[in-house]
Amino acid sequence: MTTSMMQIERSDHDHDAYDDMMDRGAFLRKLRRQMAEEDEAQREVPASSNDDTADSDTLCYQFYLSVQAVYDGYKHVNYRQIDFGIVGDSPLVIAQDRTVGKGGFVWDAAYILAEHVSRVTDWQAGSPNVIELGAGTGITSLIVARQVPQAQVHLTDLPQLLPLMEKNSSTTKNATAGVLEWGRNVSGQEYDVILGADVIASIYDSNGLAKTIHDLSHERTKIYLACEDRLAGSIEEFEDHMRSLFDHVGRSKPNSANKNPKVWILEISGKRSTQ
Ligand SMILES: C[S@@+](CC[C@H](N)C(=O)[O-])C[C@H]1O[C@@H](n2cnc3c(N)ncnc32)[C@H](O)[C@@H]1O
Repeated sequence: MTTSMMQIERSDHDHDAYDDMMDRGAFLRKLRRQMAEEDEAQREVPASSNDDTADSDTLCYQFYLSVQAVYDGYKHVNYRQIDFGIVGDSPLVIAQDRTVGKGGFVWDAAYILAEHVSRVTDWQAGSPNVIELGAGTGITSLIVARQVPQAQVHLTDLPQLLPLMEKNSSTTKNATAGVLEWGRNVSGQEYDVILGADVIASIYDSNGLAKTIHDLSHERTKIYLACEDRLAGSIEEFEDHMRSLFDHVGRSKPNSANKNPKVWILEISGKRSTQ
């Protein structure tokens, strides 16, 4: 049992069945609110970790991978940019911006997803169009765009992330960036591949995300979401929701040099039409 569960105590008064049911509902709502607050607190960027020294300007990601031992999402939040070395045919340096929220820096799930889809997806056929939801810095899309030059890749996120996505995508010719808020009506455009890294959490609009993924899919669309285990509940609920919209929903082990053991891939396909 978690600390939060233990902290919520129920009264020992006598109850009839109706009271019991109402109590249970209130208890579960309170528990859910408290879990969401804890999740948010866990993911808050710690103010004390800001470090403006010249030494912390650029992180070499390959060096970071070679010494990776601690799987803390905030470990490279202090760096203004991350150098991913040569990706495709030119250097890829990704700017980070702590002022725009959690999307302003690179999460492990983002790199893991990029490597996974670049390696496991059959990219041979045609010129696939790819969209990423909640792209943040854009690192996932930009690695995929460079590894699969025949693909057209569109990065999307909330309006405050647009300048960062545009800046980071400016050196990748087959990538574009735009605003897309989950749950809003989309233009009718359908994509062959839909990506999302670390976008399922109690603080985010999972119903909106599910609707957007369904709206942007056709019958052969492949969807890859990299998930990081934090608090139980939100991801399982999302998986159940997706099972009502798609025929195939399954978890797979990531194929990546980043070995964060908490990250796994949710693969979805087989869109069902809804009336
Ligand atoms: C934890 S960050 C992950 C960023 C990036 N994918 C990564 O892994 O580095 C979650 C991202 O989801 C985006 N997001 C959250 N709610 C959203 C919504 N309703 N519509 C669009 N994007 C949203 C946030 O702005 C943020 O960029």
